[in-house]
Amino acid sequence: MTTKRSSRAAAKTVPSLRPQVLVLHGPNLNMLGSREPKHYGLATLDDINRALVGRGETAGAQVETFQHNHEGALIDRIHQAARDHVDFIIVNPAGYTHTSVALRDALAATAIPFVEVHLSNIYAREPFRHHSYFSDLAVGVVSGLGAHGYELALEYALRHLQNRTPHGSQKTEKAH
Ligand code: DQA
Repeated sequence: MTTKRSSRAAAKTVPSLRPQVLVLHGPNLNMLGSREPKHYGLATLDDINRALVGRGETAGAQVETFQHNHEGALIDRIHQAARDHVDFIIVNPAGYTHTSVALRDALAATAIPFVEVHLSNIYAREPFRHHSYFSDLAVGVVSGLGAHGYELALEYALRHLQNRTPHGSQKTEKAH
């Protein structure tokens, strides 16, 4: 017998034909707008998210955004993305860029292609910011272009997903 709960859960795991993109923001990015504007600009996280969701709607893609200050919550959200058949992730791991093997492992475990975004140019800042635990797994990295970097990453994701067949494989491009 199928209970209400399990049929709802089963419905969630059916892959969507509408491309799904998840935008993940790490710790302290909820402070954008007032946080060190010389590095991170004046756009708030809401401004950034609204623009990305709007662009997704125009392109017929579902863009979801998620910010959390805790590593475990970000990891859980990545696991959820795999269960939901998310097609592409755009992630700014923020401070976890330079510290989190666990967050890296979560992305590696799901094998969902992702672009790493940083508002600031991490290579033009303190030496401890020069190393990222994510860049070698990422399809690409955008660093130093402010909020525009997220938009460029989304344009790439939308283009990449245009080439996909309904089963999630790529027609012309190799899936990462
Ligand atoms: C950041 C750069 C990181 O070094 C920093 O810890 C952040 C934000 C960026 O977007 O430029 O929190 O990822």
